[in-house]
Amino acid sequence: MTQATVHFPRGFLWGTATAAHQVEGNNTNNSWYRWEQNGHIKDQAGLACDWWGGRWKEDMDRAAETSQNAHRFSVEWSRIQPEPERWDEDALERYRMMARGMVERGITPLVTLHHFSDPLWLYDRCGWEMPGIAPAFEKYARKVVEALKEYVTTWVTINEPNLYALNGYVTGAFPGCAQGFGAALRVLANLLRGHAAAYRAIHEIQPEARVGYALHYRPMLAARPWFPLDVLMRNIQYAGVNMAFPSAISTGVMKSPMGNVRIPEVKGLQDYLGINYYSVDTVKFDITNRKELFGKRYYPAGSDLSTTKFIANTPNGLFDTLKWATTSYPNLPLLVTENGVEDDDDKMRPRYIAQHIHQMWRAVNYNWPVKGYFYWTLVDNFEWERGWTQRFGLWGLDRETQARTRRSSADLYADICTENGLSSEMVAKYCPEVLQKIFPD
Ligand code: FCB
Repeated sequence: MTQATVHFPRGFLWGTATAAHQVEGNNTNNSWYRWEQNGHIKDQAGLACDWWGGRWKEDMDRAAETSQNAHRFSVEWSRIQPEPERWDEDALERYRMMARGMVERGITPLVTLHHFSDPLWLYDRCGWEMPGIAPAFEKYARKVVEALKEYVTTWVTINEPNLYALNGYVTGAFPGCAQGFGAALRVLANLLRGHAAAYRAIHEIQPEARVGYALHYRPMLAARPWFPLDVLMRNIQYAGVNMAFPSAISTGVMKSPMGNVRIPEVKGLQDYLGINYYSVDTVKFDITNRKELFGKRYYPAGSDLSTTKFIANTPNGLFDTLKWATTSYPNLPLLVTENGVEDDDDKMRPRYIAQHIHQMWRAVNYNWPVKGYFYWTLVDNFEWERGWTQRFGLWGLDRETQARTRRSSADLYADICTENGLSSEMVAKYCPEVLQKIFPD
C-alpha cells in the first residue's frame, strides 16, 4: 500500500461553519420564524442547537478539542436591531462573548453578517427589495463591527446572495416577496449595493479587516453536450446562478437578459472570495420547467448520492471551482467557506471529506491561494426549507435531549486538522473504499 501524507501550508484555517437561525434557537423575530409559523415547511427551527441558551460553549469545546482552529458563524440581524429604531446592546454583548470564547479556545472567528434570515420589520417591507436597504445594512454592519472588532477581522457580508434571491423571489422555497425574475434581479442589485456599503464601512472602522462574501458556486455540465438546447440551458443557468454576483463585482455592472444594471460602487470590493461548494450539476432542456427558464438541474444516474439525494459526491468539482476562482481573480485569497454532506449513518461523509480535501490539496499544490476550509457543519442543525430532515453534522444531535453524538467523521476531521494534512493511513482507516482513488499504488 502507498504510504503518503499530503500537507497544507502553515497557518491554514480548519474549521466548521454555522448560521444563527440554524443553531441558536428561539429566533422569533425573523423571516424564517414567520415562514415556519405559516406552515410553509413541516418543521420549525425551535430550540435548534440551543446556542443562544449557551450551548455554543460546549460545541466550541468540541471544535477546539478536535484541533479546529477557526469557526465561521453568523450574527442575527433581528436580535441586534429588533425594530428599525432599536438596537439591542445585550444581544451584541452576547455575540462579543461568543467571539471572545472562540479566541480563548484558539479558534479564529469569521463572522457572517447576513445568512438568509431577515428581521421581520424588513421582511414586512419585502426584504432586500426595500428601497434604502443598502444604507440600513450598512448601519447594522457598523454596529456589529464596532462590537466585535477586538476579536474578529474576517467578515462575510452576505451568504449566498444568489440562492437568497433565487429561492426567495423565484422558486418560492425561501421566505421572499413578489415572485419573478424582475424581483430577483432587484434583490440581487440591492445585495450588491449592501455588500459595497458594508465593505467600505467595515474598512473605515477596521482598516486591517478582510471583507468578502460567500458565493454558492455550482459547476455545471450540459447533459448532452452535442444537443444545443442543453448547452444553451446550461449556459443560461450557469450565468444566472453562479455569475451574476461575482461578475458584477468584477465589472461594476450586473448583466441580465432583462437589461444591465450599473453598480459602479461595488467594482473590485472583495479582499478574498468565499466559496460554498457542494456538488456539480448536470443541466438539460426541460420544456415543463418554466420557473427555471426551461432548464433542469439534476444528478445523473449512478451518482454517489447523500441520504435525501440532495448532494452528489463530486470532488473534482471543488478543484474546478477553485480553478475558476483563481483564474477569474488571480492572487485573490480563497476560502472554502462551506463544504459538506448530509448523511444519517455517516457512511458517505468520511469519503466525501477525504476526497474533497484531497482535491483542495491539488489546488494548493498549484500555489492557488486557498487559505482555509470550513466543513458544513459542526452539529446537525435546522436545514432551512428541508427542516430537520438532513444531518450534516460531525456530531449528531438529539433534539429532545440536546445530546450530541460524535460521529466517526469528527475523528477523521480531527486527524486532518491535527496533521494539517491528509494521510493514506487516515483514508485506510475511515474510508478505505476510496484509498486507491486518493493514494493509488
Ligand atoms: C448552504 C447554506 C447553509 C446550509 C448548507 C447545507 O446553501 O448556506 O446554511 O444550509 O447549504
